[in-house]
Amino acid sequence: MFESFKNHLSPYINDWDAFFSAISVRTERSFRLTKSRNIPYENERYDKITDSITFQTGGAYIMNPSSILPAEILASHMPAEPLILDLSAAPGGKTCALSDLVARGGLIVANEPSPARLKALHFNLERCGAWNTKTLSHDGRSLSRFYSGVFDGVLLDAPCSHENQIATNPKIASQWSPAYVQELAKLQSQLILSAYDCLKEGGVLVYSTCTFSVEENERIIRHLLDSREDAELIKLEHQFSRGISGDDTVDECVLRILPHLQADNMHDGFFVAAISKGELSLNGRAAPAPTPQDKIVDEFFTTLPPHILKDVNGQVYIESTVPLRGDFRRTGMVFGKRAKRDTFELSSQALWEFGALTHAELRQEVSESIAHDYLKGFDTPLTNEYNRKLFFYNGIPVGVTKIVDNMHKNKLDRYFLYGKTIEW
Ligand SMILES: C[S@@+](CC[C@H](N)C(=O)[O-])C[C@H]1O[C@@H](n2cnc3c(N)ncnc32)[C@H](O)[C@@H]1O
Repeated sequence: MFESFKNHLSPYINDWDAFFSAISVRTERSFRLTKSRNIPYENERYDKITDSITFQTGGAYIMNPSSILPAEILASHMPAEPLILDLSAAPGGKTCALSDLVARGGLIVANEPSPARLKALHFNLERCGAWNTKTLSHDGRSLSRFYSGVFDGVLLDAPCSHENQIATNPKIASQWSPAYVQELAKLQSQLILSAYDCLKEGGVLVYSTCTFSVEENERIIRHLLDSREDAELIKLEHQFSRGISGDDTVDECVLRILPHLQADNMHDGFFVAAISKGELSLNGRAAPAPTPQDKIVDEFFTTLPPHILKDVNGQVYIESTVPLRGDFRRTGMVFGKRAKRDTFELSSQALWEFGALTHAELRQEVSESIAHDYLKGFDTPLTNEYNRKLFFYNGIPVGVTKIVDNMHKNKLDRYFLYGKTIEW
């Protein structure tokens, strides 16, 4: 199989042996910290990120620096309050990054056709507080029928042959063949046209894969340029490699990460290209008007960004104010629920996301071990010293409790105890 991979790709790669040995070594694990929450995550010291309060409260997402690039490139071309489509979104690393990079402004529609992966996407959006999102579950090839000319930005992080893992992941290696690459190239060439057609005039499409084959990368961009007259390649500024296909128009504008040409062992192999529909336009929406503050918001927060609260049988969701129609699977994130005697229980994920905006007098600084116990689902005894309901550790929001019978009852949604992110 590796021989066939070599025959397929080596004509495009200088120094095959260095390339193959570089992709045979696992890159170092990295994570991205959520910036838009304004939470002092750097206050926390830990040995392993997954054991940290920062990670367990959705303030960090494990992802390779390469795979943040498409979200950064798209966000850098977006107007204020953008309307963005993430066409193949699960498990959601890039949706969460995009939501953070646009400071939770505008609206991101995240689409994922696979039901199992949609579940993982929902879990990650909730955990990371990406409340300016709605999800869809369609074949991306059909989306331009519903959303032709609608979005300021589209991210197509395409299903691909994952050649960046071919030497380290036996499952990826066993499914690889030249025919498999062709099959994916066919799907990608259909997806990219649908993604492009969802753009409004002046909008930007970012196409990315974590594979090396030119059939899945530069040739897909060439196919778009040949199929849509108004498609204009954007020349990306970066310190990585350019394209390797021999098609100069495409090669000089795109970004490739070839691990053997990297000085460090941080970046996985990656490909990114950006295309605008006609001339790039940064005309965004006006900033939304501040929302009249609901009394359940006043109870906990000094202020919140403009939002909509939607009550579904007592469960309250917080959503973006940007209107859009669609058969959404989920919109926004859980804000809390209405309880007995006209009281409101704030969700812990709402505290993780908006903790910096809470009334200071509601905050309870707790010890590190109480914070860890809370995140394992345990209750905490009520004492004179520990008598406020919003737990923080070192300024990092940990979770919400309800005081019952001399105890802080743990109100963490149980799926955070058992849920897992899937890595890809
Ligand atoms: C590379 S992964 C996306 C990773 C994601 N962007 C992230 O950063 O977490 C590609 C995704 O495309 C989805 N997919 C496969 N076929 C698709 C189709 N026809 N339309 C849209 N998405 C598709 C796969 O299920 C997979 O979740």
